[in-house]
Amino acid sequence: MKIAVAGTGYVGLVTGVCLAENGHSVTCVDIDDKKVALMESGISPIYEPGLEELMNNNMERLHFTTDYQAAYKDADVIFIGVGTPEKPDGSANLSYVYGVAEQIAASIEKECVVVVKSTVPIGTNDKIENLIKSQLKHDVNVYVASNPEFLSQGTAVKDTLHTSRIVIGVEEEAAGETLKEVYKNFDAPIVVTNRKSAEMIKYASNDFLALKISFINEIANLCEIIGADIEDVALGMGYDVRIGNKFLNAGIGYGGSCFPKDTKALHWLANFHDYELKTVKAAIDVNENQKLKLIKKSRKYFDSLKGLNVAVLGLTFKPGTDDLREAPTLVNIPLMLEDGANVKAWDPIGIDNFRKVHPEDVTYCYSIEETLKDADVCFIFTEWDQLKHFDLTKYSKLMKNPIVIDGRNCYDLESVKKANMVYDSIGRETIHNLEVSLI
Ligand code: UDX
Repeated sequence: MKIAVAGTGYVGLVTGVCLAENGHSVTCVDIDDKKVALMESGISPIYEPGLEELMNNNMERLHFTTDYQAAYKDADVIFIGVGTPEKPDGSANLSYVYGVAEQIAASIEKECVVVVKSTVPIGTNDKIENLIKSQLKHDVNVYVASNPEFLSQGTAVKDTLHTSRIVIGVEEEAAGETLKEVYKNFDAPIVVTNRKSAEMIKYASNDFLALKISFINEIANLCEIIGADIEDVALGMGYDVRIGNKFLNAGIGYGGSCFPKDTKALHWLANFHDYELKTVKAAIDVNENQKLKLIKKSRKYFDSLKGLNVAVLGLTFKPGTDDLREAPTLVNIPLMLEDGANVKAWDPIGIDNFRKVHPEDVTYCYSIEETLKDADVCFIFTEWDQLKHFDLTKYSKLMKNPIVIDGRNCYDLESVKKANMVYDSIGRETIHNLEVSLI
């Protein structure tokens, strides 16, 4: 089939490349000509494991352009995968989605299905349909379908090629049949429903996962107070298949481009309809507090971070991505700097992006060892494998005070007990194991 994809961010580019892998001819459209030139030369503008390789394997079926008219005019299916960033009031900014809808209306010359992949508030597909139909330049049939994505950054290619489900929200059977044809080579259950239900499936899924994380974080906080161990608690809970063992990792809260935005957007939408989504509100509030957990913990050891050498390990919102959106470091590092700390930071791939926000006031290091050298305290924000496999004895060898405050529970407590350090993690006993007490 002839497919066009609007937007080449995580959603658009991964969708386009995976559809090309499944035999379709795909034209990816972006307004940024530098990005287009990069992709044409086989370079992915985003870091996503396996994406560039898959892109290069499918170059004969993949095209990149800024010329939306040429891409849309005779496409069978047009996917909209542009961003829906959060507005200051928590609602979703739909101007990019509507902009693409207008371009589609001005361009299409034959019947096509417009598929909304971007996460949009419930009811937006109806508005997109009205907008396109009211501005059509050529008298052609156009269908609008909702087809939310469920990909996670860092595993986006795998999540798309081996998706857990394909959700198709349509108002006409014909549009549903076209989408089934698009996905005919995918081995996944297909849920066909109306558009509003499909839009809701996406929000409800993300908000439920966010709620699960906030729940386990609250239980972890209570575990610390009463002396229980969150890892064992999560293990014991996870064996119940009704609960499941996924997304029960306690930490410093969720970040990224989806959970923070989608929880706020659904809460906002409910409020707009005079309904309070209390559980989602709780997930948001707990997460905001959780992000500050490490700084609060540091107060046990220091009244202030003024003049201290602070080592920050991990900058991104999770491992496997260079994305910093809603990363806890974005609120914590400014607080450390405000407090007067000398901040040194390490991340295997997030430094370039972090440097754009903090070009001067943070010293960036290219090894964990260099970051730890002479540090008074160390904060772990991202559970990179390099950290999980780091030799624990090095903390005391390199740091001035081996105090490690870990927001991602990277180490098991038995191993920590053999090292000479103070180790304070989430929802677990704090290990004070200094040969010579420095604090
Ligand atoms: C998420 C959803 O998983 C995906 O289905 C959706 O399409 C987009 O949003 P993503 O934001 O890429 O994907 O990352 P994810 O792996 O879900 O993690 C989100 C955040 O939650 C991260 O900050 C992560 O550290 C945190 N998290 C996740 C936890 O704190 N504990 C967990 O148990 C799981």
